[in-house]
Amino acid sequence: MTAIVDLESGVAETLKGALGDAVILDSLDAVRRHIDTNLGEDTIVVGPSVDQDSALALAQSMRVQRPSLGVILVRRRVDTAVLSAALRMGVRDVVEERDLGALSQAVTRSKKVARELRESVPDGESAEPGPTRGRLITVFSAKGGCGKTTLSTNLAATLADGGKNEVVLVDLDLAFGDVAIALQLFPQHTIADAVVLGESIDESALRSLLTPHSPGLMVLAAPMQPGVEKTIDATLVTQILLLLKDMFDYVVVDTPPAFDDQVLAAFDASDCIALIATLDIPALKNLKLTLETLDLLDYPKERWNLILNRADSKVGLAIPEVEKTLGHTISVQIPSSRDVPATINRGVPIVLDDPRHPVSEAIFAVARSCVGEYSKSAKLISGDSGNDRKSFLRKKGK
Ligand SMILES: Nc1ncnc2c1ncn2[C@@H]1O[C@H](COP(=O)(O)OP(=O)(O)OP(=O)(O)O)[C@@H](O)[C@H]1O
Ligand SMILES: [Mg+2]
Repeated sequence: MTAIVDLESGVAETLKGALGDAVILDSLDAVRRHIDTNLGEDTIVVGPSVDQDSALALAQSMRVQRPSLGVILVRRRVDTAVLSAALRMGVRDVVEERDLGALSQAVTRSKKVARELRESVPDGESAEPGPTRGRLITVFSAKGGCGKTTLSTNLAATLADGGKNEVVLVDLDLAFGDVAIALQLFPQHTIADAVVLGESIDESALRSLLTPHSPGLMVLAAPMQPGVEKTIDATLVTQILLLLKDMFDYVVVDTPPAFDDQVLAAFDASDCIALIATLDIPALKNLKLTLETLDLLDYPKERWNLILNRADSKVGLAIPEVEKTLGHTISVQIPSSRDVPATINRGVPIVLDDPRHPVSEAIFAVARSCVGEYSKSAKLISGDSGNDRKSFLRKKGK
């Protein structure tokens, strides 16, 4: 169930129009009475005419008393100050009044979080901290343009397995990230919004910064504005990645072509480091230097996973020789195909567009070499997840 509170009945009716089934209340006192008597209530939408401080006080008290109940704040205008205050106080999402589509998505997300919290925390008990739930894979190459974003987007879509696993793709290319563009997403929030939250960031605040893509796949997008990347330090990146590892089955991290502190933070949290290169001397030289650096920094070799992209290019370099020079075996070779840029231009990962394509088959092999049997790749071709895939492609106009 959802409750909407606003002092103006016309505004409340408009919000209800976007949500369908919801009760309308006219004061925060009425909200408190409503949630006392409706223990199954999972979402409160606080309209724009309700005083902000009182709304935040409600969110803060609910965070302790009823953690599964989500408070969504609707404001006439959302700026960083509102967002930061709201997320600090435990508001699950903040949306602009005129963006009714975002409101409906926020309510759907809130209900999902509520369901998960209720399922994971039995009545009266608090959740015990345990080992992290998920596995984290960082995709890296020290040379630009080798295919990191192509691999990370496709790997994340593969691991989501049509909704059977929960996966988040993090764009850690903080200055020039293009995951959102490659997946044709228009994020409302990005990793930059985590800065104002600082150390108080928690699962529900972090979840509100994610953008859904396809069944099972969420994205934490890179900042949209230039220069913001300097404010996202390695400590915050570590905190975000560890939280995400607890929240998702798999976390896939796309990176910039540089060994910066944030990338090292991702390596620290990684169960698998997928190192990608193309079959040309500059890329292989950079891969060799990367391996030497990882060795110096004591990252265990069992976690390294070498992948050659566009591996069938006729460039006169033999794989056994390359492996000998690198001192490490190549685990998967991804062929070159003009269908790859074509699918990126359409915003659909090739593994969803054409699961039988040789490039898709190679990416399934990368997924298996990174995490083992995540699932059967065949599920992407037939069965329920095949249906999820088809409905996603229909929405994309394919
Ligand atoms: N297997 C492939 N076959 C054909 N084209 C490919 C393949 N893999 C990647 N490409 C193309 O190569 C280009 C660079 O790929 P991508 O953006 O994934 O690289 P990147 O490593 O993320 O680059 P950057 O370092 O700039 O972030 C893109 O145009 C992409 O479509
Ligand atoms: Mg990239």
